[in-house]
Amino acid sequence: MRGLLDRLKDFVIYDADVEFYAKVFPDSVGRKDLMRLRKMKRSDLSQIVAIEKSSYPFPWEKDIFQDCLNMRYECWLCELGDDILGYGIMSMAVGEAHILNLCVSPKEQKQGIGRKILEHLISIAKKEAEQMFLEVRPSNTGAISLYDSIGFNEIGVRKGYYPAENGKREDGLMFALELL
Ligand SMILES: CC(C)(COP(=O)(O)OP(=O)(O)OC[C@H]1O[C@@H](n2cnc3c(N)ncnc32)[C@H](O)[C@@H]1OP(=O)(O)O)[C@@H](O)C(=O)NCCC(=O)NCCS
Repeated sequence: MRGLLDRLKDFVIYDADVEFYAKVFPDSVGRKDLMRLRKMKRSDLSQIVAIEKSSYPFPWEKDIFQDCLNMRYECWLCELGDDILGYGIMSMAVGEAHILNLCVSPKEQKQGIGRKILEHLISIAKKEAEQMFLEVRPSNTGAISLYDSIGFNEIGVRKGYYPAENGKREDGLMFALELL
């Protein structure tokens, strides 16, 4: 269970003072305090694609990320210095937000970064959407527990939604979150 202080720190996307304190009093600022969220740029895509390839058995290619940027989807990342740690992509239309990708570099997982990115996308979606949707593989128990803990409900199954080994397909579980 994370403490109240951690939750408050997560709420602050980026505080320029933190970098100042990190330089002047290096021991006073933790690694997590220096992680910041910002919008994805085209120049981030080589790092993003490397994380994508190391995280998914069937990763997106670079052109899909380019399309997401072209479509002006909400494309956000979490970084520490020059290193990208994770990213999330969300589309929004007619009152519905859809999480298209949420990914944290394998070596950076289980530190609250996935939750931080998802909570940020939820805060953006709340301004103009009433519901948020996402799909997840039934085998992806880590992601499912994240979605459960945030309050998503399983609402259905998309048959054969995902590619799987040997040309087979895996179902996608559909999750929804009420934003109102
Ligand atoms: C799913 C993913 C984004 C989670 O990111 P993360 O930064 O590791 O997750 P967090 O540290 O924010 O964890 C938040 C919660 O998720 C759950 N969780 C995350 N990883 C878990 C795991 N491997 N096993 C069990 N629970 C896990 C826990 O409930 C955790 O709660 P806690 O904060 O109380 O411990 C990350 O594992 C990932 O990128 N996986 C590969 C890509 C992927 O599958 N994306 C989802 C596609 S639908």
